[in-house]
Amino acid sequence: MKYDGLDTAALAARLGVPSCLALERVTSTLDIIHELAVEGAPCGALVLADEQVSGRGRQSRRWYSPKGGGVWLSSLKRPSRPVEGGVLALRTGLAVVRALTDLDVVAKLKWPNDVMLHDRKLAGVLCEARWRGPEIAWVALGIGINVHGPLPEEIAGRAISLDEVLPGVDRLMVLDALMPWIRDLCDRPNLDESECLEFGQCDWLVDRAIREPVEGTARGVDRTGALVVETPSGIEHVVGGNVVPA
Ligand code: BTN
Repeated sequence: MKYDGLDTAALAARLGVPSCLALERVTSTLDIIHELAVEGAPCGALVLADEQVSGRGRQSRRWYSPKGGGVWLSSLKRPSRPVEGGVLALRTGLAVVRALTDLDVVAKLKWPNDVMLHDRKLAGVLCEARWRGPEIAWVALGIGINVHGPLPEEIAGRAISLDEVLPGVDRLMVLDALMPWIRDLCDRPNLDESECLEFGQCDWLVDRAIREPVEGTARGVDRTGALVVETPSGIEHVVGGNVVPA
C-alpha cells in the first residue's frame, strides 16, 4: 500500500532504512516486526501502519492508534552487544524528543519514555526484547506519536496530538525528523554522561514529588537508566513501574 503517497521502496530510500513495510491495518506493528525478525529481517527494518487494532503500551495498557491518526511504527534493532532494554527504551524516548526539537517543538520526557507536551502525552515508546539463550536476539522498538487530532474525550485531558501545536504537520514530516535519530541509536550498555545530561534537560519529573512506585522526589536518571528518587530514607534507584506524581 502507499503511505502518505509513497510506496514502500520510496519510503525505505527516503528514510534510509534497509526495508520498510507499510500496512493498512495490523494488530500491532510490534507483532509484525517480531514476525519479520524471526524470518531474518535486517537491523533497521521498519514497519509502519495506518491503524493498529490492538496497539499496546507499557504495563499492558492499550495504545489508541486510529487510522491515519499518527505514526505507529516498529523498528528492528539487533544490538551487537548486551544492552539493557530499559537503556534502549530511554534512548528511543530521547530520539523522539530530538526529532520534535528539529520540528521546533519543545517536548519533555516523563521517565522512562513518555513524551510530554504541555503536560499531556504526545508519544510513547515500548521496547520488546527477544532472547536467544542468555543473549539478546533482537529488540523491537515500538513508537507511537499522535499526529492528528481530535483525540477522543476519554483521553483528551491527558493526551495531545502534534497538530495542536503544529498545524499542517503530517506523518512524513515526523518520520523525516525521527528516523535519522532512530537509525543511529547507539547500543552502548549504559547511558553516557551526555545522554544523562540530555535527559536532565528534558526531564518532566525532575524535582517533582512522586508517590509511586516509591515516595520521594525525582532527581533524574543514573547511567543504567534507573530513575533516581530521593526518599526520606535515602536515595533509591527505581528500575520499573509506573511513576505517579504526588
Ligand atoms: C506507552 O506509552 O505505554 C507505549 C506506547 C507505544 C505505542 C507504540 S505504537 C507502535 C508500536 N506498536 C504498539 O502496539 N505499540 C507501539
